Amino acid sequence: MVHGSRKETPRERRWKTPPPPFVSGANVTTADRNALRDAGWPTCWSGAAELLDWCRPFDAVLDTDGTTRWFPGGRLNASYNCIDRHVEGGRGDEAAIIWEGKLGETRAYTYRQLEDEVNAFAAALRDLGVGEDDVVTLYMPMVPELPIAMLACARIGAPHSVVFAGFSADALATRLTGANSEYLVTCDGYYRRGTALHLKSMADNACLSVEQDVEQIVVNRLDDGRSTGDHHSYADLVSDHDGAEIDPVERDSDDLLFLIYTSGTTGEPTLVGHTTGGYLAHVAWTSYAVFDLGPDDTHWCSADVGWITGHSYAVYGPLALGAATVLYEGTPDHPEKNRLWEVIERNEVDVFYTAPTSIRAFMKWGSEYPEQHDLSSLRLLGTVGEPIDETAWRWYREHVGGGECPIVDTWWQTETGGVVLSTLPGADRMRPGAVGRELPGIDAAVVNEVGEEVAPGESGRLVLTRPWPGMARSLCDGSGWGARRTSTVRNQWQYDTGDNAVRDVDGYLHLLGRADDVLNVSGRRLSTAEIESAIVGVEGVAEAAVVGGTDTMKGSKVHAFVSPESNVAGDEALRTRVRSAVESAIGSIAAPDSVTFTPSLPKTRSGKVVRRYLKAIANGETLGDTSALRNPEVVGELESLLDE
Ligand code: PRX
Repeated sequence: MVHGSRKETPRERRWKTPPPPFVSGANVTTADRNALRDAGWPTCWSGAAELLDWCRPFDAVLDTDGTTRWFPGGRLNASYNCIDRHVEGGRGDEAAIIWEGKLGETRAYTYRQLEDEVNAFAAALRDLGVGEDDVVTLYMPMVPELPIAMLACARIGAPHSVVFAGFSADALATRLTGANSEYLVTCDGYYRRGTALHLKSMADNACLSVEQDVEQIVVNRLDDGRSTGDHHSYADLVSDHDGAEIDPVERDSDDLLFLIYTSGTTGEPTLVGHTTGGYLAHVAWTSYAVFDLGPDDTHWCSADVGWITGHSYAVYGPLALGAATVLYEGTPDHPEKNRLWEVIERNEVDVFYTAPTSIRAFMKWGSEYPEQHDLSSLRLLGTVGEPIDETAWRWYREHVGGGECPIVDTWWQTETGGVVLSTLPGADRMRPGAVGRELPGIDAAVVNEVGEEVAPGESGRLVLTRPWPGMARSLCDGSGWGARRTSTVRNQWQYDTGDNAVRDVDGYLHLLGRADDVLNVSGRRLSTAEIESAIVGVEGVAEAAVVGGTDTMKGSKVHAFVSPESNVAGDEALRTRVRSAVESAIGSIAAPDSVTFTPSLPKTRSGKVVRRYLKAIANGETLGDTSALRNPEVVGELESLLDE
């Protein structure tokens, strides 16, 4: 928005420039961007590694001899980089974690306090028998003990596997088994919209259904004395180990820092591993360059730490740079719809990072809520998780960013570890609705089915064509850069992101959504296959197909088409059983918004379910020719059913 009476020219509407004071003080300027370009790939990534302290310097930026290894020969510890070095540098009394609790309580940890508690908990974990490379599962809500436990694991070289607290006992069990994890740190419970949820009983159910014995540690949040079963108390462990000092374990750059599950295209959640050196360098550098963070900043990434966004930009990135990070336990509209703005004002937040789905909710609630607060501390805004439309972009800038703040739309995935596409706020113009371009050192292309780059303006699959430091370790295995090879063109390495995109004539990329069977619901990735497998497990269900529907608020809606067994009625009771099966297999985030019963699903003559038609039906779109179907009549029946 251009202030004053003059109307925006079309060019001003299309392009936005960051304010000059921001540009002149930015961490990465146009000159820096040019220098990185001149350094070339992969050398340009050495600056990212230099943001960290290494116990042993790396021999090269990238080793592609057999496998892809970033910063080979280098040894480091992530907890040392996120804590000790800041204390040693005289910043022990500065804020590290600022926690805003659900019931209005606040707790702040300085870097020194963080160091003390991380050491104590690391010592406790060791005493319980956790050794290097043992996986510790963390099933916790947004309490400070979650990042503390992550950093304690990192200190002793034990990879953590954080499971989002909204996941069900079954989902936790799958993840405990998949990671072969024998240690679980959880919480007695937490509050959601003022109601207490008992996490410990879910954890107990999960532990009962896995083969290995699982040692549990419980943080008391509710403190209502209901936690039963065999477990250690987090608070007792920390006080018993008060004053302990644990030397940070030197890890190879390539050693695992953590595991995290994401939804892939198959029914099974996909396990992704991130490395200590490559990942940490990537998130530190992107926090520095994209979020323009430094030690004097207070950063608030509103994502739950249970997701990759929280790992990278609520914990590791900001703490690696010595900034303060805000953790917020609550929901944005409880007790009032001004809650977030109040938190920003009280903590003088400099950089705020959230998802378009939240921005759309803020818009719906109205600008009077942000207007009640002084948000002038904000100097940069970010978004992630799904494309941001121009209207939401402008609203965010105007009502949260005071019409001035630059906005970075950041595209990335669990597999990329950190941001790979974005504008650099000190060096690039912004284009509302477009994500921007590749960060320096990232190569992306929009390609057709055979992997050839398509012309600007044409849509295709977004692929990354060269390795990057934050890449998941599974992408580095095999020969050469042996990740997924989709290209048949000159046998070129391509990582297929699963997203469709289009590049405009100015080189900016616009994301068009997923090309595969992964739904993006409120910025969270869900696999249609995983939801379907929960539904077909319900007694009386013969078949099910799940498709995404456009939803102006959530990004995607979950539509389930369910075909009951011949003698079973598709009634309310079955519908409820279908919904609760999904809730208990995955969590309430995946529960279908609609369940439509049908005698059969539309199928090709070879028996394949044609989800394309179901998607069109669910979204009220034209179907086109259905003559290739074995049962075209079912499509008409479904349409009329939904019309009702
Ligand atoms: O479809 C893209 C979408 O979120 C997917 C990655 O989800 P996840 O691994 O859960 O990581 C979420 C946070 C990084 C992508 O494949 N996505 C993420 N950021 C954007 C986006 N779509 C459009 N624009 C974005 N900025």
